[in-house]
Amino acid sequence: MTAAGSSLRSRSWFNNPANPDMTALYLERYLNYGLSIEEMQSDRPIIGIAQSGSDLVPCNRHHLVLAERVKEGIRDAGGIPIEFPTHPLQETGKRPTAGLDRNLAYISLVEVLYGYPLDGVVLTIGCDKTTPSALMAAATVNIPAIALSVGPMLNGWHEGERTGAGTIVWKARQMLAKGELDYAGFLKLVASGSPSTGYCNTMGTATTMNSLAEALGMSLPGSAAIPAPYRDRQECAWETGRAIVEMVKADRKPSDILTREAFLNAIRVNSAIGGSTNAPIHLNAIARHIGVELTLEDWETTGADVPLLVNLQPAGEYLGEDYYRAGGVPAVMGELSKAGLIDGAVLTANGRTVAENLVGVRIHDDKVIRPIDRPLKEAAGLTVLSGNLFEGAVMKLSVISDEFRGRYLSDPANPDAFEGNVVVFDGPEDYHHRIDEPDLGIDENSILVIRGAGPVGYPGGAEVVNMRPPAALIRAGVHALPCIGDGRQSGTSGSPSILNASPEAAVGGGLALLRTGDRVRIDLKARSANMLVDEAELDRRRADLAAVEDTITPESQTPWQEIQRDLVGQFATGAVIESAVKYQRIAQI
Ligand code: FES
Ligand code: MG
Repeated sequence: MTAAGSSLRSRSWFNNPANPDMTALYLERYLNYGLSIEEMQSDRPIIGIAQSGSDLVPCNRHHLVLAERVKEGIRDAGGIPIEFPTHPLQETGKRPTAGLDRNLAYISLVEVLYGYPLDGVVLTIGCDKTTPSALMAAATVNIPAIALSVGPMLNGWHEGERTGAGTIVWKARQMLAKGELDYAGFLKLVASGSPSTGYCNTMGTATTMNSLAEALGMSLPGSAAIPAPYRDRQECAWETGRAIVEMVKADRKPSDILTREAFLNAIRVNSAIGGSTNAPIHLNAIARHIGVELTLEDWETTGADVPLLVNLQPAGEYLGEDYYRAGGVPAVMGELSKAGLIDGAVLTANGRTVAENLVGVRIHDDKVIRPIDRPLKEAAGLTVLSGNLFEGAVMKLSVISDEFRGRYLSDPANPDAFEGNVVVFDGPEDYHHRIDEPDLGIDENSILVIRGAGPVGYPGGAEVVNMRPPAALIRAGVHALPCIGDGRQSGTSGSPSILNASPEAAVGGGLALLRTGDRVRIDLKARSANMLVDEAELDRRRADLAAVEDTITPESQTPWQEIQRDLVGQFATGAVIESAVKYQRIAQI
């Protein structure tokens, strides 16, 4: 199809004299709420606003307000805005997990961006999975796209102390277990962490992924950290609307921005911000859909040695408002640049390079964002482990507490390794039912293992690996045990768990062979995780593998669970729909 007098993609729908019947049919229905033929056949680009906020998605709900400013920006720059809803993705509301729906939202958004007359799109992002699903879809379709973060909530407070969304729950849960809070007091304390519209004000998966969208160059510089209710956020919405029109005119597409160098920048930023352990899953997924080579190993080689600069909960003390006031993502990237850890030549959404965007940026509060020569922690990225338990799993080095280090990593002869006997749980329900059973014999030398929590076992992957010790042990002062699992953990958890183990037990990964009482050895220096079980015994267990896989794979409850289980890959490679990866840059086809 060719369009008359315009190179805009949408004109093949709206202005195609060679096919007047279809042109009329496409055109007339978009006129019926007030658009004119003149507008639809002009050289004004049609800009989609992929609306991820709704009453079902409170974290992103403020986008319903921001979209009005986005539309004004699009109009002011000469475009025509068309807003449409995306599949709801609320981290805290969706059963069994929002992780299950990330690929569903991706598939659905690809279909919309490809199949409708859109020349560019504003991706409204916020809550954990809304960011990766939108960027994955933009990567596949490859029309000009810019992300607009909804911004974090204001800081939470309780009795003069900051309470963070998602982090306060871990502390409150321990207080409940110790009897220091009753049920009503527990709920009130947790709610204090969420005082306004916006996404989690902590360095959870949402702040991480919104920061990384900016670090990748897919949103305006300085935009990620602006709190949702601030007036600056409205201004940013307007500027984003103006920017996407310019991007369409310049034909600046995701493939121009999402290069391997951009991903490596984002990996280093993830270490410096103390980002979520969900980040490798999502970034690897985006990379696969744009066709950039990125592996789990890149997270180790590129990110492990990068220092922690951002003092946000759970690794640190502060919250979202503080992060913004201290300078946000540009201040972090500016510090990393000083140490040569940022590739400044990478192009960003606004048409300028990272280096150009960073001119003149500085830290405004060095308690919240530390200078590169005075980091909170050295070598604070993710480490990637492997062995006979799994081929790949990650551990977040920035959240290893002094208590944990003192108990497990203090042997002077062997400061990087520890061993323990495992207690194995088959899925989240089994863990919840049995964790406080005294005859499990869990003590401070135990290692807790959960399996059946990966993308196939617990469809989408459960955020459960950060298991709490039994209540009796917490009362005795043991606040965290080493945990291993093939699931994920919440980005707001402060546990140094070994997680995202791939391949997962449900598809025959090493964890499926493990039994309660086995001894496991973790060596952080050698980056190994092994069960100390002899080969002959492992062979015997392999014969029973099918039975184990069956126990840990509950029946699907919905059609999508079954479809996703058939098609999904493992966490190490992004947990994408494998058959979707070959569809690349499809808007150009
Ligand atoms: Fe939505 Fe944390 S639950 S951002
Ligand atoms: Mg989460």
